[in-house]
Amino acid sequence: MTAEGILALARSAGVGADTRVLDVCCGTGGAGRHLVRTLGCSYHGVDADAEAVASARHHAVGLSSTYAVHTVPPLPVGEADVDVVLLLETVLAFPDKHALASAVAVALRPGGRFACTLEEGTPLTPVEREAMPAADTVWPVPLAEFVSTLADVGLATVSVQDDTASHLRVATALLTQFTAARDRIEAALGATFTDDLLASHRLWRDWMASGRIRKFALVSEREPIDGVLEVAD
Ligand SMILES: C[S@@+](CC[C@H](N)C(=O)[O-])C[C@H]1O[C@@H](n2cnc3c(N)ncnc32)[C@H](O)[C@@H]1O
Repeated sequence: MTAEGILALARSAGVGADTRVLDVCCGTGGAGRHLVRTLGCSYHGVDADAEAVASARHHAVGLSSTYAVHTVPPLPVGEADVDVVLLLETVLAFPDKHALASAVAVALRPGGRFACTLEEGTPLTPVEREAMPAADTVWPVPLAEFVSTLADVGLATVSVQDDTASHLRVATALLTQFTAARDRIEAALGATFTDDLLASHRLWRDWMASGRIRKFALVSEREPIDGVLEVAD
C-alpha cells in the first residue's frame, strides 16, 4: 500500500485523535506508526509473529502505541472495546472469512468501523496454487461474497474503493528493487527465500495487471446489537 492509501482508508473509517484503533496482523507496524504520527489516534497492534512484534515495538519508541503477540481469531480485546479495527494486506491469509468477520464484529463497539484491504478474486486454481509460494496463506475472495459475509455478522459495508492501480505500482516497484538487490538478499537470507520473494511479487504484479486479482479498500460499520436502534424520547 502507499502511505497515502493507508491514510485515506483510516480517514474514511473516521480515525482521529480520539479513536481507539486495533491493528490486526500489524506486521512490523509501519502503517500503524504512520497513523499514530499523522492522526494522533491511540493504537494497539497485534501479530502472530513474535519477531515482527519485537521490531514494531523497537521502531515505535516514543509513540503512544502498544503491541502484543497474538493469533487471530479471536481478537485480543473485550467485547465492544474498539472504535476501529484495521486489517491491512492480510484478509487473504484467512481461509475462513466468516470466523474472521465474527471476531471483528465482537470487538467493535456499535457504530465502530472495520477498515481493511481486500485481495479480491475467485479462489486460486490448482495450477495457480502450485506457482504461488506459501499458497496456504493465499485465499482471495470475490467482493460480493466478502461483503455478504460481513453483513451476516452485522457489519454493513459503507465504502468500497478499487485501489488495484496503486497496489500494482507498489508491487512493480518492489519487484524491480528486489531483482536489483537479488545477490545481497540471497547472501543474507538464502536462495529459497529469494526465489520465493521474487516469484510471489511477479505473480501479484501479473495478476493485478491482468485483473485476475483486484485490491479494494473497504470500510464496514458495526450495526446496533440485535438490530435494535436507540430512540430518543
Ligand atoms: C502481509 S503482512 C501485513 C502486515 C501489515 N498489516 C502491513 O500492512 O504492513 C501479514 C502479517 O499477518 C500476520 N498474520 C497472518 N495470519 C495471522 C493470524 N491468524 N493472526 C495474527 N497475525 C497473522 C503475519 O505474521 C504477517 O506479519
